Amino acid sequence: MITRSKSEALYEEAKKYLPGGVNSPVRAFRSVNGSPIYFEKGKGSKTWDADGNEYIDFCCSWGPLILGHADDTVLAKVSSVMANGTSFGAPNKYETELAKLIVDNHRYIEKIRFVNSGTEAAMSAIRLARGYSGKNKVVKFEGCYHGHVDSLMVKAGSGLATLGTSTSAGIPESFVKETIVLPLNNKEAVNKAIEEYGDDIACIAIEPIPANNGLLLQDKEFLQFLRQRCDETGILLFFDEVISGFRVSFEGASGYYGIKPDMIAFGKIIGGGFPVGAYGASSKVMDHVAPDGPVYQAGTLSGNPVAMAAGIAQLEQCLKPGFYDALAAKAQSLVNDVQSYADEQGFPFHMFHVGSIFWMSFSNKNRVQSADEIDPKSGERFKIFFDELLEQGIYVGPSSYEVGFISSAHSNEDLKKAAGAMKSALAKAYA
Ligand SMILES: Cc1ncc(COP(=O)(O)O)c(C=O)c1O
Repeated sequence: MITRSKSEALYEEAKKYLPGGVNSPVRAFRSVNGSPIYFEKGKGSKTWDADGNEYIDFCCSWGPLILGHADDTVLAKVSSVMANGTSFGAPNKYETELAKLIVDNHRYIEKIRFVNSGTEAAMSAIRLARGYSGKNKVVKFEGCYHGHVDSLMVKAGSGLATLGTSTSAGIPESFVKETIVLPLNNKEAVNKAIEEYGDDIACIAIEPIPANNGLLLQDKEFLQFLRQRCDETGILLFFDEVISGFRVSFEGASGYYGIKPDMIAFGKIIGGGFPVGAYGASSKVMDHVAPDGPVYQAGTLSGNPVAMAAGIAQLEQCLKPGFYDALAAKAQSLVNDVQSYADEQGFPFHMFHVGSIFWMSFSNKNRVQSADEIDPKSGERFKIFFDELLEQGIYVGPSSYEVGFISSAHSNEDLKKAAGAMKSALAKAYA
C-alpha cells in the first residue's frame, strides 16, 4: 500500500483557506475514496506526487497536455518569450501568429478571438450568437457542459454530474428561462423545440463529442441533422470544441465529422497548458465582435504573449504529419487490450474511445449516447477500480463520468503497464 501522507497533510491545510480545499470541485475527490493527490512534478507521460509516488497520467490536466507534461519545445518557447515580459495589455505579434496558425489550418474558422478559459469562450460565443441574430434562446443538450456559464448550467455534465445536481445555486430562474435543454441524439426533440421556439432561437449549442458526462458519442447523422435544421431556419450551429478541438484532429470534431458549424469555442489544448480559450467563426459573424461590431467582450490578460507562445509551440507539433493517427492508434491498442480482457471475463464493462479520448463505462451497453443511459450505480465500481489504479501508479480523473486522455508522450510501454493495471483493477471492481 503506497502512502500519501504528505498529500493528505497538504489537503488538510488547503481546506482551511480554499472552499473544499480546491479551486475546481472535481479535484476534491468527492466521487472516489481518499483525498486529492498533490502533484509536484510532471514530465512526459508521468507525474510525481508530494510523497514521491510516480504515476502514468491519463488526466493530462483534463485534456490540455496533448504533448504530455513539460514538453521541451513548449517550455523553451515560453521561457524565451517570458523573459521579455509576461503581459502588456497591448497587442503582441504572438496573438496574430497563433490566430494565423489556426485559421490557415482550419476550414471553418476565418477569424478568432482569444480569451482565458473555455468557460469564457462558450459564454462569449453565446453572446455573439445572440448579438448577431437578435434572438434570445439557446438550445443545449443534457449532459453537455459548456463551462460554468450562468445560463448554461442546466443539466450539464462534468463536476455537476458527479455532484448529482443539475444546476447551481445563485442562478436566477430568469437566466435559465432562455435555455432550452434537450436530450442528445433525439431529432424529434430538436424538431419540437424549433417548432415551438424557432423564431427566437439564436443558436444550437452542442459538444459535438460530448465528453463531460461519460463519452456520449453521437451518430454523425445526428450532427448532420442539426446542420440541416440550422440551415433551414437560420439558427446558428455552435460547436463547443473545448475538449475535442485540436484533440481528435487539428480541426477537432468539425473536421473529424466534416461538418461545418457556424461558431466554435476552443480551450484546453489551444493554450499549451496555459489558461487560454477562444471562439471563432466566419468573418461575417466575427465582425460583430467589438471593436468592429456591437457585441462587447474584452480581457486584461487575453492574448498575453506567454500563453500565446505556449499555444503556438504546442499546435505546431500537432500539425506534424501523422500526429493524430499515432495518438488514435495508441488509444485503440489500450482499448483493445482492456476490452478483450473484460469480454473474456464476462464483465459488464465497455471502454469507448474516439481519437485519443477514452471513457470506461461500467455497464455492458456498447452504445451510450445520452446522459440518462448511464447507470448511476456504476460510480461504486469505479471507486474500487480507481483505488487499484492509484495503487499501481496509474492516474485518471477521479470520477466515473470523466474521460481519459492519451498524449504523444505516452509510450507503448506506458500503455502496456496501464492496460495491466486496468485489468487487475477491473478484476477487483467485479470481484
Ligand atoms: C466542452 C467544454 N466546454 C467548456 C468548458 C469550460 O472550460 P474551462 O474549464 O477552461 O473554463 C469545458 C471544461 O471542461 C468543456 O469540457
